[in-house]
Amino acid sequence: MTPYAEVIGDPIAHSKSPLIHRFWLEALGLEGDYRATRVAPGDLAAFFADRAADPAWRGCNITVPHKVEALDHVADPGDVRASIGAINTVFRGEDGALAGTNTDAAGFWAPIAELDLADRPVTVVGAGGAARAILWALARIGVGPVTILNRNPLKAAALLASFGLKGDALPLAAGTPPAALLVNATSLGMTGQPPLDLDLSPLPDDAVVYDIVYAPLETPLLAQARRRGLATVDGLEMLVGQAAVAFAILFGQEPPRDRDDELRALLTA
Ligand code: ATR
Repeated sequence: MTPYAEVIGDPIAHSKSPLIHRFWLEALGLEGDYRATRVAPGDLAAFFADRAADPAWRGCNITVPHKVEALDHVADPGDVRASIGAINTVFRGEDGALAGTNTDAAGFWAPIAELDLADRPVTVVGAGGAARAILWALARIGVGPVTILNRNPLKAAALLASFGLKGDALPLAAGTPPAALLVNATSLGMTGQPPLDLDLSPLPDDAVVYDIVYAPLETPLLAQARRRGLATVDGLEMLVGQAAVAFAILFGQEPPRDRDDELRALLTA
């Protein structure tokens, strides 16, 4: 009985999670498998009931469109519902019952953990699920005023309030004020989507531009940032970061992050 975990979503064929987790399982010589499983909306309850009864199942990662609804089917020991409001990992708690957590916030934070952002201004573009995890992380470390740029500024204002952040919620056309960190938390710039059209010239020379989009790896936004000589963080870093926290939960060992170069080559091949 090979232990296994999986990522669930709909669609799911494009997911890079199996590549990442299998790379680490093999690197560590751990017996185990990691698959991608399509679970249609409405089939979540049946899915969790089935897996809860399977002793080989270690848990799963969750992607679109199940990150919020999954909360209705598992325990929530960290009260994620009241904070980020969405889970991306389900595992067996000590009592064997299924429990949920969210590793996106930690995955977002890990690549910029060395930056001193306390009380420094930050701009976040977007107000969807990814933005929620990012804003939660930013609130925890006490960044300075946060400007959220979003197609729908009212949605952004509600997010600022719910995370207790000081700042402004503005339409995309308002552009970014000077900021120490600018994060794209929308799908703009992804293959097949329009680019995020934002003028980076207000940013200071030591600003960091972080894009959660990883296909393409160099989005038009990151290309613009590099032309300006700004430091950048690409979407694979957050993807691998959230997977690393999930891997430790699912398989009980830290993944070998000293092999990230190899992993990134695999993911971009
Ligand atoms: P995710 O879980 O990946 O964050 P989401 O919750 O659907 O996905 O959020 C997508 C974000 O990208 C939202 O902020 C959305 O703007 P709205 O809040 O106004 O819906 C933003 N977004 C997506 N497509 C966009 C577009 N074409 N122009 C501007 N913003 C867009």
